[in-house]
Amino acid sequence: MENKFETNAIRNQLERSQYLEHSVPMYVTSSFVFGDAEDMRASFAEEKDRNIYSRYSNPNNNEFVAKICEMEGAEAGFAFASGMAAVFSTFAALLESGDHIVASKSIFGSTLNLFNSFLPKWNIETSYFGVHEVDQIESLITEKTKILYAESPTNPGVDIVDLEVLGTIAKKHNLILIIDNCFASPYLQQPMKFGADLVIHSATKLIDGQGRVLGGITVGKADLVDKVYRFSRITGPALSPFNAWVLSKSLETLAVRVDRHCENALKLAEYLEAHPKINWVKYPFLKSHPKYEVALKQMKAGGCVVAFEVKGGLEAGRKFFDSIKLLSLSANLGDARSIVTHPASTTHSKLTPEQRLEAGITEGTVRVSVGLEHIDDIIADISQALG
Ligand SMILES: Cc1ncc(COP(=O)(O)O)c(C=O)c1O
Repeated sequence: MENKFETNAIRNQLERSQYLEHSVPMYVTSSFVFGDAEDMRASFAEEKDRNIYSRYSNPNNNEFVAKICEMEGAEAGFAFASGMAAVFSTFAALLESGDHIVASKSIFGSTLNLFNSFLPKWNIETSYFGVHEVDQIESLITEKTKILYAESPTNPGVDIVDLEVLGTIAKKHNLILIIDNCFASPYLQQPMKFGADLVIHSATKLIDGQGRVLGGITVGKADLVDKVYRFSRITGPALSPFNAWVLSKSLETLAVRVDRHCENALKLAEYLEAHPKINWVKYPFLKSHPKYEVALKQMKAGGCVVAFEVKGGLEAGRKFFDSIKLLSLSANLGDARSIVTHPASTTHSKLTPEQRLEAGITEGTVRVSVGLEHIDDIIADISQALG
């Protein structure tokens, strides 16, 4: 009998130690010991599948990776110190000088910066498509293109990219399809079902869920993950065992937390949609979302982020921020505490105004990561801040 998502998230755990602990302990150790010289030689020669050094693997990291693989339907994975370590290491491991990436314009600001400011140092160029222009992707593909990359929902505009369309294009052109699934979490969306080869998460967000630790992970097809692993065990971006332990525990409550995040976010989005001081609201499970049908096809619910614009431009937006009392003004998301962010002056401030607009961010765009407080209190705070 196959267990369900929620059961696996709790019951998939490391074997008990000789102490028969109920909850998995922390293996805070940099290295592991060997029985004798032959054991050590065979371990380093990879004739044995065992932990050697925590830059390569660690029991807590292994458990965290195994759980995410099960959730995403992936064969293998590697856990990183942050989401950006996962993004960088994955691209660095898979690309050669002269390779080309086709990516969505609406991606996380640091990822965009990596593609535009750093990868060109190694002669790796990127061409971009708009989230509403997936029909143009094929015209951007050249013989040098190796990776097709997107986020869905996007940060911060919560636009939706049709993963099935991307999967079909990637297969036709023999590209590696990589999806940053951070905004959905493995509970709401599994991109590999739609043809993704690799899935990346910033585990700092919904996976941690309480704003405590940074983490990242790349999971997917074993041959690709092996390349990522070989790059990473040399270059050292591994997740710390302590953070792996925290994140693995967090997965036990992922489903119940994300259900409530989504319930609260939908209620807030509906409230804002009817508010006279709001220009527009975007939330994947609002019928007014331009890709509502696609969201229904590929997601279980809409996620924790609602984007909107206050009428009156930047000045009205600033007043709104200064009037917030309960919610946090912070840059994280997916936390139990609701968070309000102004992407143009924070997470996406390194982009030019044109690049921001292309990524769907106006000067007045507000991003709310809807938390787990009572929805009445969240709405009351936003309502008073809107005046
Ligand atoms: C969609 C997305 N990808 C990647 C990252 C980077 O993750 P981290 O901050 O853990 O490095 C973030 C962070 O906000 C994100 O929102």
